[in-house]
Amino acid sequence: MDIKISPSILSSDYANLESELNRISNADLVHIDVMDGHFVPNITIGIPVIKAIKRVCDIPFDVHLMISNPYDYVDAFAKAGADIICFHIESESNVEATIDRILFLGKKPAIAIKPDTPVDAVLPYVSKLAMVLVMTVEPGFGGQSFMERVLPKIEAIRNISSDIDIEVDGGVDYSTVQLAAKAGANVFVAGSAVFGSDCPSDAIEVLKNNARNHSEE
Ligand code: DX5
Ligand code: ZN
Repeated sequence: MDIKISPSILSSDYANLESELNRISNADLVHIDVMDGHFVPNITIGIPVIKAIKRVCDIPFDVHLMISNPYDYVDAFAKAGADIICFHIESESNVEATIDRILFLGKKPAIAIKPDTPVDAVLPYVSKLAMVLVMTVEPGFGGQSFMERVLPKIEAIRNISSDIDIEVDGGVDYSTVQLAAKAGANVFVAGSAVFGSDCPSDAIEVLKNNARNHSEE
């Protein structure tokens, strides 16, 4: 499995997004957290900011929609520059219709599940998805602690599909990245561990090596 690091710009300096993106030029993906203040108790950035940073960044955009009605917005996010469009199974949109719309738009569909959502909820859709995002914190804020109790869910998804991308998001650092890799994750979101470091590009390399050394394959 390809190991990918997806730094979350939620922990970057929003006053200097272009230079922050230049500090992670070795990243595989850029993780963009979109929050609507309704699905989660926080509001971040949206379509115009994604459109703007797309002009100055060549790395694929991994857009994590923490919004109540993702179906209504997938066209706009696709047009703004999202490459992976990830929405929550707990949202209000029709899951099948949202996946189909993302595929129709030529983008990669992904589903995110919160820490207390059972894996069973996502299984019927796995064959159509490019990625499953397993949250290891409650969505809404960066800088929270990794929930180890979520690890069996990663193992369960990996047992069902050996080739789907499994992304882990929340509290991923040099040490927890190893646990997630061992459980079967291969895409790692890291906000504070990357942007909180003096040298984000070095942090990406350490995370990648630590994941590689603990990955089963
Ligand atoms: C939380 C977001 C995460 C967040 C991770 O709701 O989905 O992507 O940025 O931040 P860290 O890595 O600091 O836990
Ligand atoms: Zn996220």
